[in-house]
Amino acid sequence: MAANIYPKYQSDGSRLGNLLEWFDVRFPLTSLWRAHLSEYYAPKNFNFWYFFGSIALVVLVIQIVSGIFLTMNYKPDGTLNAAGIPVAFASVEYITREVFGGWFIRNMHSTGASAFFIVVYLHMFRGMLYGSYRKPRELIWIFGVMIFLCLMAAGFMGYLLPWGQMSYWGAQVILNLFSAIPLVGEDLSIFARGDFVVSDATLNRFFAFHVIAVPLVLIGLVVAHVLALHETGSNNPDGVEIKKFKDDKGVPLDGVPFHPYYTIGHDLPAITIFLFFFFVVFFWPEGGGYFLEANNFLPADSMKTPNHIAPVWYFTPFYSMLRAMVWNFFWIPAKLWGVVAMGGGVVILAFLPWLDRSPAKSIRYRGPIFKTLLAIFVVGFLILGFLGAQVPEYCFFGLSWLPGAVIAQIFTVYYFLFFVTMPYWSKIDKCKPVPERVTFK
Ligand code: HEM
Repeated sequence: MAANIYPKYQSDGSRLGNLLEWFDVRFPLTSLWRAHLSEYYAPKNFNFWYFFGSIALVVLVIQIVSGIFLTMNYKPDGTLNAAGIPVAFASVEYITREVFGGWFIRNMHSTGASAFFIVVYLHMFRGMLYGSYRKPRELIWIFGVMIFLCLMAAGFMGYLLPWGQMSYWGAQVILNLFSAIPLVGEDLSIFARGDFVVSDATLNRFFAFHVIAVPLVLIGLVVAHVLALHETGSNNPDGVEIKKFKDDKGVPLDGVPFHPYYTIGHDLPAITIFLFFFFVVFFWPEGGGYFLEANNFLPADSMKTPNHIAPVWYFTPFYSMLRAMVWNFFWIPAKLWGVVAMGGGVVILAFLPWLDRSPAKSIRYRGPIFKTLLAIFVVGFLILGFLGAQVPEYCFFGLSWLPGAVIAQIFTVYYFLFFVTMPYWSKIDKCKPVPERVTFK
């Protein structure tokens, strides 16, 4: 561990110096600082795609802090109050309307969830652009996929808490999917709900998971993610290893200390620009119905099913995959195929390091096959996302010969084919020669 590599801090005799020395003898303060910041050498050619990891860290902190303040007034109680409104729903209304600054905290947390997914999707896409998942960074990527799963769990469970119509019916639809699993499915969905339908028991367990269990795992995974990154060193837009060429002190020739070059010169300006997006929190918290859905401003009612149940935008690509499966293949019913497609859509990402066999990591040096297939993949994923928010009967431009359901099926199949056939096409693609060292102007 880094603790023994660096000499301990030597005080200059000042009070602060003495305090630092006292601290450093008892805690690996300087060695942690040097190993992870001032002597962590990052490639000097990072571009804007490298902003999103740090921004994700900022959003994580925002979610935790705003979540703590929300918890002070939120009540996970599905029973009705004297006015006939569920207590949980009323407590969210109370936070928004009565608690000092409550509207701000609530909007920050709900738009923060969407911001988290926007940032993480871009962060993952950067990984695909530059082959950051390739050897030796497979574990960074796998921790990333686990983080993504945790974020999905946090988002799904958090969405039940306001106990609105969409919270209730969304959870009902997704928890019912467990019952598609043969033999144990029915029991499993009762176990997950804690009841035969979504109820107060479900709300209580989702609250426990959302506020403590999932965030704990998430924080642990983020620490593991960054530790793994600092073990291998960062990839870069050229996809070449900077550790190959070092000076006589062992410092990579193409590396610069992360602090202050990237902290002050790169990430801080990016975070500042990101914080300008706070205007959404103030002026557009419902995000046109995508961040907060209209139906969720109505209290949950188990006797009234909304006409159209759709998850929040960040789940819609995978929800589309679920709905695209309408065939009973072999002896397996369509519903189970849907669940497999929805889960498989995320899990398949974890295999990317072993599916990609291209000699070049970065898109800069990869051939036309990769570029074309990746472009279609992105368009397809966005279309799946769009369709997942529409009613199943949706037709593009109102044209009956352009049914959304068929297009979702085509892009679902494409999504999986992209990965499954990757070992073949990534090998035969005509790559450009990869430079030995990073290109930097
Ligand atoms: C809470 C969510 C996440 C946080 C806070 C986070 C944080 C970070 C940070 C700080 C970095 C270094 C800076 C940078 O390269 O941008 C990084 C790198 C990386 N992350 Fe994440 N990450 C998260 C989610 C994910 C996910 C979901 C994936 C993929 C499935 C992922 C894959 C990667 C990879 C491959 C790298 C190395 C990139 C390179 O060196 O080129 N991360 N992450």
